[in-house]
Amino acid sequence: MIAGTGSALPKRRVTNQDLEAIVDTTDEWIVERTGIRARYIAGEGETTSTLAAEAARNALAAAGIDPTQVGLIVLATATPDQTFPATATRVQEMLGTGDCIAFDVAAVCSGFLYAVSVADSMVRTGAADVALVIGAETFSRILDWEDRATCVLFGDGAGAIVLRAEENDGTSQPQGILGTKLHADGRHNELLYVDGGPSTTQTVGKLRMKGSEVFRHAVTNLAAVLHEALKGCDLTPADVDWVVPHQANQRILDATARKLGLPAEKVVTTVAEHANTSAASVPLALDKAVRDGRIKRGDLLVLEAMGGGFTWGAAVVRY
Ligand code: UT7
Repeated sequence: MIAGTGSALPKRRVTNQDLEAIVDTTDEWIVERTGIRARYIAGEGETTSTLAAEAARNALAAAGIDPTQVGLIVLATATPDQTFPATATRVQEMLGTGDCIAFDVAAVCSGFLYAVSVADSMVRTGAADVALVIGAETFSRILDWEDRATCVLFGDGAGAIVLRAEENDGTSQPQGILGTKLHADGRHNELLYVDGGPSTTQTVGKLRMKGSEVFRHAVTNLAAVLHEALKGCDLTPADVDWVVPHQANQRILDATARKLGLPAEKVVTTVAEHANTSAASVPLALDKAVRDGRIKRGDLLVLEAMGGGFTWGAAVVRY
């Protein structure tokens, strides 16, 4: 089951008006095309690991679980503190979990879905009883701040969940991750990528995206994978209480909900305030809706995301 959720944002909030001073853009264009009004940008001393550790601490506190009980940390990120070791091991040290399994997962914006799937499988097969699944990013550090087509779209942050193995006595409804579906199609590398890396340029590189083409693929793939994930659990969109989607663009959220025949009121949206935080966006949105009381115990959730690769996926969750 998901025993607790947590999140963390950098201190500095940057509005669209603030960006008007940096690049040739307008608040009106950004709001109309994306729904984004603000984003949080990491400052000095704030990194992917510090944000991840804060989100993880909040999730553990919500779950009432001590860090020493954690047996597994899976951290999804495309912006690790260092090329290696895994940022998960930095977080492990910051939390003081003691010896446990800790590694990163790289699937960009769908990283959290991949991480949930891996962690759930490992908990089910007995590798750990308590797992921290974290999505954490500092995309501001790989943005080209002279490219108005991309730099206005992203923000930094982290979200985390605590997964706990549960004995099912057969009488109560199963809780937790009911099913996941993951996909990748490596033919689309050039539509969304970073133009650097250790093995190619020996630099970190900057994010490059052909936005309108990504948009087209996103709506089709997300609607399809949501249907597929629900079908795998013998459920339909009518059973869903909340969609917790990757927060890339309000228009993608609206179009995907329309394709599924789901009312906009059932979609958790944080894109206006967080912008696109890549692997952090789904757990950030989940934590927000849990803490403000929208998502309640027993609710049926579908989480979904799509990003660079392309990779995409969905998870069906009984909270
Ligand atoms: O998280 C990973 C997945 N990523 C996504 O899902 C992103 C998907 N894509 C999108 O969200 C949208 O495609 C964007 C928000 C990136 C762009 O919206 P669009 O409606 O597809 O716009 P466009 O790229 O076709 O650009 C339209 C115009 C262009 O001008 P011209 O060529 O029509 O004269 C751009 O130069 O808007 C211009 N433009 C801007 N104008 C003001 C691009 N960026 C900006 C900007 N401010 N920041």
